[in-house]
Amino acid sequence: MSTKKVTKIGVLTSGGDAPGMNAAIRAVVRTGLYNDLEVYGIMRGYAGMIENDIIRMESRSVANIIQRGGTILKTARSKEFMEPEGRAIAYENLKQFGIDGLVVIGGDGSFRGAQKFSNEFDIPCIGIPGTIDRDMAGTDYTIGFDTAVNTAVEAIDKIRDTMDAHDRLFIVEVMGRDAGYIALHSGIATGAENILIPETKTDIEDLIRSLCEKEKRKKLVNLVVVAEGGEYGDANKLAEIIKERIPTADTRVCILGHIQRGGSPTCQDRLIASHMGYYAVESLLLGRRNIMVGVLNNKIQYTPFNDTIKEKHQRIGQEWMRIVKILAS
Ligand code: F6P
Repeated sequence: MSTKKVTKIGVLTSGGDAPGMNAAIRAVVRTGLYNDLEVYGIMRGYAGMIENDIIRMESRSVANIIQRGGTILKTARSKEFMEPEGRAIAYENLKQFGIDGLVVIGGDGSFRGAQKFSNEFDIPCIGIPGTIDRDMAGTDYTIGFDTAVNTAVEAIDKIRDTMDAHDRLFIVEVMGRDAGYIALHSGIATGAENILIPETKTDIEDLIRSLCEKEKRKKLVNLVVVAEGGEYGDANKLAEIIKERIPTADTRVCILGHIQRGGSPTCQDRLIASHMGYYAVESLLLGRRNIMVGVLNNKIQYTPFNDTIKEKHQRIGQEWMRIVKILAS
């Protein structure tokens, strides 16, 4: 807790963009203004802090953005901010504006930067989890996940139509650098026969066996959803293996890619983002620092930055894989 009262706050988005970030920015700006704070938007994350690309935000600056994907503040991954020299320049720029509190919307890498900055320069920072990957500890939701997974489901449903018409085997690659949540959720929701994720070891022989067995049963439509970050995350490579081992299967690949990051946020993402934005500003007003606002068991929870890192997030349990197998049998 800090006893210094914040008067001017900055808000930034950092790392990969996620649908719903605009709703969070809007909530931060409007809650800040309601509490008589001056609010500044920092462009392109920490890069804009170093380059002094900082703008005053008014209520109308965030009008008509709640429904838009991307981020009006733009985003970046800044190498300079990882160095003490970069952070010192950023601090000098904030000082010029009198900014004495920060809201950082991003993933655990962004929070690591915020923590260092806060410890070095005594600026309280509050994090809002914004990543489509949902790979953070201390929260059941991250902004953008719900939209991304719904985008993936819509796309896979369409693939299923053409897959079924041709009796094909499809490998669909979804995003998720270190986490399989998008693959797991979209795969279960679309009735995938197999889901390959970074959290669990893939037994390729078992996969081939199950596909061959389905071929024998004349179950010719097979959907395999893979997370890009998994052992077989390169869907094209996996397709090569399958083509070699099951030459009779008519195999195709579809990599969904960045369409999962764009588009209008779902109602859930807008709500969570609005909620978190409000509590982030309230946290600064109450003197909290270096914590992330999250939602656990439908309640707002505050988790120290140190405990939000990916490595600590709940891993997807093996029982999910059992369920996938049973439901696809
Ligand atoms: O972290 C979000 C994410 O979309 C990952 O799922 C993906 O691996 C990565 O970002 C892609 O990053 P970039 O847009 O920089 O290629």
